[in-house]
Amino acid sequence: MLPMELEKKLSFNRFISVGDLVIVYERHDVMKAVKVCENGVLQNRFGVFKHENWIGIPFGSKVFSNKGGFVYLLAPTPELWTLVLSHRTQILYIADISFVIMYLEIIPGCIVLESGTGSGSLTTSIARAVAPTGHVYTFDFHEQRASLAREDFEKTGLTSLVTVGVRDIQGEGFPDKFTGQVDAVFLDLPQPWLAIPSAGKMLKQDGVLCSFSPCIEQVQRSCEILKTHFTDIRTFEVLLRSYEVREERIESWENYGGGSSHKSRKRKQRSKDGIDGVEGSTTVLAKPCSEGRGHTGYLTFARLRCVIA
Ligand SMILES: C[S@@+](CC[C@H](N)C(=O)[O-])C[C@H]1O[C@@H](n2cnc3c(N)ncnc32)[C@H](O)[C@@H]1O
Repeated sequence: MLPMELEKKLSFNRFISVGDLVIVYERHDVMKAVKVCENGVLQNRFGVFKHENWIGIPFGSKVFSNKGGFVYLLAPTPELWTLVLSHRTQILYIADISFVIMYLEIIPGCIVLESGTGSGSLTTSIARAVAPTGHVYTFDFHEQRASLAREDFEKTGLTSLVTVGVRDIQGEGFPDKFTGQVDAVFLDLPQPWLAIPSAGKMLKQDGVLCSFSPCIEQVQRSCEILKTHFTDIRTFEVLLRSYEVREERIESWENYGGGSSHKSRKRKQRSKDGIDGVEGSTTVLAKPCSEGRGHTGYLTFARLRCVIA
């Protein structure tokens, strides 16, 4: 999954080998993770694909089935992994994840604490952000979830960057050995206010905490506790609007609302002779997807207040 080499240089082996995990991409909402085996086959509605034809070709290649159907073989980035992983819990998606990584100031070399691990969706992205010299210590009190997450990190090649612990973080807090050692803490817990005092102890001076909660009542309770030792407390809700972009043939401009004043569609005319508005030509339409994700949760960030010695 990660562009890692033993000497910890960033690079990516761009050719597919036996044992690699590839994302088999049919379209943006149909893809799956497959481990490449010498005698493996993938069967889908497009026909049969032999893994042996994938070995040695670059990630990103288009490959064909026995029936002439095709799929793309993509490198398993955290963005794609989030879309194909098995959902054992609610997970964080790309819009929230990218905001979290940015606002927690997670960069290579950072030490990050997380709880709960859940399905490991966020953990995977944090691992890439801290690579090659940082580390994520993630805790879940649910043993089976923790062990399935470990298996996933093994599959995605992240074991050297992630350690999964089984622990009740709301009840016991984070282990003492991290006291004053960590750059950032992320909480996705039902009662985050119970874990905030411990999270505060673990942070280096000026470290940042983020708590994700679906309900505003959880946010309010967390903020009450945060006020004691944290500063710069801010809550965000990230609302993503996706657009579907496709080419369509225009029979009549009237169906498109009568020209440039129509605001719901952005149009780019692509007529054969280059003259705008010619009937029978094609146009590229961009319109909001109907199945867009709405509210996911609130992200509350806070910075540990500096104590001047
Ligand atoms: C919603 S999931 C986290 C999903 C994760 N952020 C992701 O992106 O995949 C919440 C997790 O918190 C764990 N959890 C709940 N209470 C906990 C506690 N007291 N200590 C540790 N983990 C806890 C649950 O077992 C669950 O796996």
